Amino acid sequence: MEALCSLSSSNVSKNILKLSSNRGRCPLKKINNVIYCQSSSGNNAVKASKLSAVVTERTSTISTDNSSNDLRFSPNGNGIGIIKFLRGKTFLITGATGFLGKVLIEKILRTVPDVNKIFVLIKADNKEVAMHRLKNEVLNADIFKNLKQVHGKSYYTFMLSKLVPVVGNVSETHLGLDKDLTNVIAKEVDVIVNSAANTTFDERQVNRSVTKKSYMKHYREITVCFILLPTAYVNGQRQGRIMEKPFCSGDSITKETLSAGVHKNSFSSLNVEDEIKLILESKQAIEDNIVSQKMKELGLERANKFGWQDTYVFTKAMGELMIDKMRSDVPVVIIRPSVIESTYREPFSGWMEGNRMMDPIILHYGKGQLTGFLVDPNGVLDVVPADMVVNATLAAIAKHGAAGKPGSNVYQVASSVVNPLVFKDLATLLFDHFNSSPYIDSKGRPIHVPRMKLFSSREELSFHLWRDAINKSGLTDTADPNGKLSRKLENICRKSVEQAKYLAHIYEPYTFYGGRFDNSNTQRLMECMSKEEIRQFGFDVENIDWKDYISNVHIPGLRKHVMKGRGLSSSSS
Ligand SMILES: NC(=O)c1ccc[n+]([C@@H]2O[C@H](COP(=O)([O-])OP(=O)(O)OC[C@H]3O[C@@H](n4cnc5c(N)ncnc54)[C@H](OP(=O)(O)O)[C@@H]3O)[C@@H](O)[C@H]2O)c1
Repeated sequence: MEALCSLSSSNVSKNILKLSSNRGRCPLKKINNVIYCQSSSGNNAVKASKLSAVVTERTSTISTDNSSNDLRFSPNGNGIGIIKFLRGKTFLITGATGFLGKVLIEKILRTVPDVNKIFVLIKADNKEVAMHRLKNEVLNADIFKNLKQVHGKSYYTFMLSKLVPVVGNVSETHLGLDKDLTNVIAKEVDVIVNSAANTTFDERQVNRSVTKKSYMKHYREITVCFILLPTAYVNGQRQGRIMEKPFCSGDSITKETLSAGVHKNSFSSLNVEDEIKLILESKQAIEDNIVSQKMKELGLERANKFGWQDTYVFTKAMGELMIDKMRSDVPVVIIRPSVIESTYREPFSGWMEGNRMMDPIILHYGKGQLTGFLVDPNGVLDVVPADMVVNATLAAIAKHGAAGKPGSNVYQVASSVVNPLVFKDLATLLFDHFNSSPYIDSKGRPIHVPRMKLFSSREELSFHLWRDAINKSGLTDTADPNGKLSRKLENICRKSVEQAKYLAHIYEPYTFYGGRFDNSNTQRLMECMSKEEIRQFGFDVENIDWKDYISNVHIPGLRKHVMKGRGLSSSSS
């Protein structure tokens, strides 16, 4: 899965929003095109489509009021006008060297080649390095192969006429941009898409908060923005069906769950400024060599206190809180994808990058290294293909960009309510896949994997892992008459058991997740689109055939693009 962004979400949001609240000072842009887009995620399955039935036991604990999402935008059936809106627009995109950023850029340049320009903010020491990263990590990525075919020899010329690398860092003052560039961007950019994040669940909460105030000061001149801060599971420990509702000042999950009365009133509200202050003060009081570890611990403690499972989702929520506080009359779009996996269809199916979320489990299992996992068999893994996330994002940009109405518009691009992928069914799909197309070991032999055992207690899992490791070691006879393992055997097994337990620990909040993400707004967004737009920009999560997607699209994509064909038999490579 993706990772944890420290305070980057809240920093960037605050930064860019501040500028919008002072929009009146800049005469250069009209309000109409101003949008923010932030992405995160939502929660409980209702319908089981293709696989097991999953019943939602709890009704929503979250308000269903979504008045900000006015869907009367397209009454005449002509659609949203996605291409029309995007034509000639100038973007600033962060996170372009990442997985989702590439899918987004590819889609824009393929479907709207007459977009004006895309500034891509890249971490680099200087312009040359930024250009080098753009060419190497973005333009040369496999996902652009269709565009390469279309443009042939002019591919690089075309791409570099549209993509302008700029040196920056969303954790720094001014997003790390130099002043001249900031002014240029303030004048020229219509849409800012923030896809940058540190996607580690337990990242420390440090550094990225340091420059928050100065962001605000400098960015007030930018007038036309669109932030994308995609986050999954930002709804933290909410339970049941979770609606697409923005976080508002003072919100916290813990507060929602406290019963009304004295406890609720005495529980301190989540205040982002206070959190930043706490981090900075704590950091100063800690010795350098243990800052990183202590900040991780503090981040987790604060996240748990307010009802989030880790700092990744906690800081994503703080980003939303900042947006709510500072958005003024800027239209903000918050896209909340759940777990983003390989492309469903476009530009071709199965493209992905990095070993993310469920993929380490899939790969360890396929290689025969992981035969059991800690997971609720009837729980749901909320997955969405990357191209559907990008399509929904572009549709929402066009809809709210054209309307230009102030407000936060939340879209959960998620499957757990409309088309849940149930863990025990996923386990069956993995078993079937790896038995029909097994991994090939270093000696050229197929690895036959057993059905994955799903455990609901850590003790049972631990016991299973030990037994499995001992069996695999072939050293069972080294146990003494009392059944105790020899030190040699214990050492051999310990490593693999510890690794599996670590994975189980990190994933536990997600493999037992009690929320399900409603996506009514996202579905209605698609209803605003014309037939042709649905064909080109559709995101019909409800009708994904998981068996086909997992077996024929995602795992083959993973093996091809992430494993680079390692472990494939010669006939399937
Ligand atoms: N993948 C998922 O399952 C998933 C699900 C829901 C939401 N999301 C969200 O979607 C967004 C994109 O995810 P992804 O999977 O594409 O992530 P990714 O592949 O890890 O890419 C992250 C991108 O952010 C950039 N970045 C990180 N820190 C930065 C900084 N301080 N300044 C500038 N750029 C920085 C990285 O640049 P470098 O190359 O320089 O490191 C990279 O381009 C993130 O906001 C993520 O939280 C992801």
